[in-house]
Amino acid sequence: MTQELPEQGRPAGEVLRQLRDYGRDDPHYQDARLWSLVYYLDPAHAEFLNEAYQSYSSANGLNPSAFKSLKRFENDIIAATAKLHHGTPEVCGVVTSGGTESCLMAVKTYRDLARAKRGVKAPEMVLPTTAHVAWFKASQYFGVKVRLLPLDKQLRADVRQLKRLINRNTVMVLGSAPEYPHGTIDPIEAMGEIAQKAGIPMHVDACVGGFILPFMEMNGIELPLWDWRVPGVSSISADLHKYGFAAKGASTITYRDLELLKHQMFVYEDWPGGVFASAALLGTRPGGAYAAAWAAMQHFGIDGYRDLATFTSMAFDAMHEGIEAMPELRVLGDPKGPLLAYGSATPELNIFAVGDQMDKKGWHVNRLQAPDGLHAMITAQHLAVVDDYLHDLRAAVATVKSDPSLAGKGGAATYGMMAHLPLRGMVRSRVLDMFSGMYRAGGAPLDLHAPANSAAQPLLERLAARYVQWRQRR
Ligand SMILES: Cc1ncc(COP(=O)(O)O)c(C=O)c1O
Repeated sequence: MTQELPEQGRPAGEVLRQLRDYGRDDPHYQDARLWSLVYYLDPAHAEFLNEAYQSYSSANGLNPSAFKSLKRFENDIIAATAKLHHGTPEVCGVVTSGGTESCLMAVKTYRDLARAKRGVKAPEMVLPTTAHVAWFKASQYFGVKVRLLPLDKQLRADVRQLKRLINRNTVMVLGSAPEYPHGTIDPIEAMGEIAQKAGIPMHVDACVGGFILPFMEMNGIELPLWDWRVPGVSSISADLHKYGFAAKGASTITYRDLELLKHQMFVYEDWPGGVFASAALLGTRPGGAYAAAWAAMQHFGIDGYRDLATFTSMAFDAMHEGIEAMPELRVLGDPKGPLLAYGSATPELNIFAVGDQMDKKGWHVNRLQAPDGLHAMITAQHLAVVDDYLHDLRAAVATVKSDPSLAGKGGAATYGMMAHLPLRGMVRSRVLDMFSGMYRAGGAPLDLHAPANSAAQPLLERLAARYVQWRQRR
């Protein structure tokens, strides 16, 4: 029984055995079956990160003057990141716990900056439709209204519409390099110019691209400019725990100068616990994550990251070409790497049903909506399996073509409903029911197909069935 604290402690070996056993049914990322969430190289690198992490796992970056080692790691990481992104010596920043924290912090910073400098009381920000969901979370958390920038035909932020969305309440503009859903790089130069003319800060979300695009460029791949070389850019987020191949829990947010970063900081001078200052969201900051991030950067260096970028680009090209060679599929948008998404090129082929077939073959593939698609976050590790993946994808397409009723079954029906049901409030409450179920006392695994017990459920199920019939008739 492990749901209770044992009366008497258990031997370390036994606990560790059980701990490992709990992971038995987790995705097999070591075999590159997973196309998101994990950036894994090999056992030797995992061991290296573990050792670096473990040597500082008790250290706390809460007070940066206590653990000088952690502040040194942070200084080194930020300075190297700024240089990699072509920053001036004034560029400064903070190591955060992940992309979401970096994005949240940018929104807080620019909300507070606009309040302080321009007295903005009803803050707004312009986000491309493809902005990572962390930005929508930040909108809710910090009360900053979103003005959505639509996409052009290539699924890039449509820069022609940016000007009309900026008004006196705008506190920031966002561009992504690349965006998560399709791997497209927004037109940062053009957006930066408009933002700068309007006197509005622009953040570049390079959580995915920050530690691979620079190395792809060094390898000779032509990419649009997105970093400090664009004058309108005022801050950049870049994750170390993605393409930096650090341990989980490490990202960076950098600003063009300290005057901007100051608005991110929190100071409370009247707390009975002492005068308190904090640079970002967290209180206790995990020393292990800083140490492992620093170690990864030192270990790879520019040549190591360039090698990783080369392998990733090879895997990306193979995927891109392999998918384009299937007449039933099309790559979405204009991805330059490292990730891509693909959808169905013919209305007869249900892409979510293709996803179900891929699941059956042991791949873990994320689903997209508007447009419907499947997603692949490609890393160097995938070079070894890309041919197997494409082989299985061809077979999955053939299976769905020969049995169109698969579109109305299993995950295809559920994802189809969630993506297309016009009553978005209902989708939201259904998802909230399912998701919160996992956090019920005692917990429960998420099962997208389990019947929900909310009062709205029968109607939802009826609508889902009608949606499936409607799709089949089209
Ligand atoms: C573009 C982008 N921004 C932000 C994030 C959030 O990062 P994290 O999952 O580390 O919080 C992601 C995650 O995939 C992302 O792709």
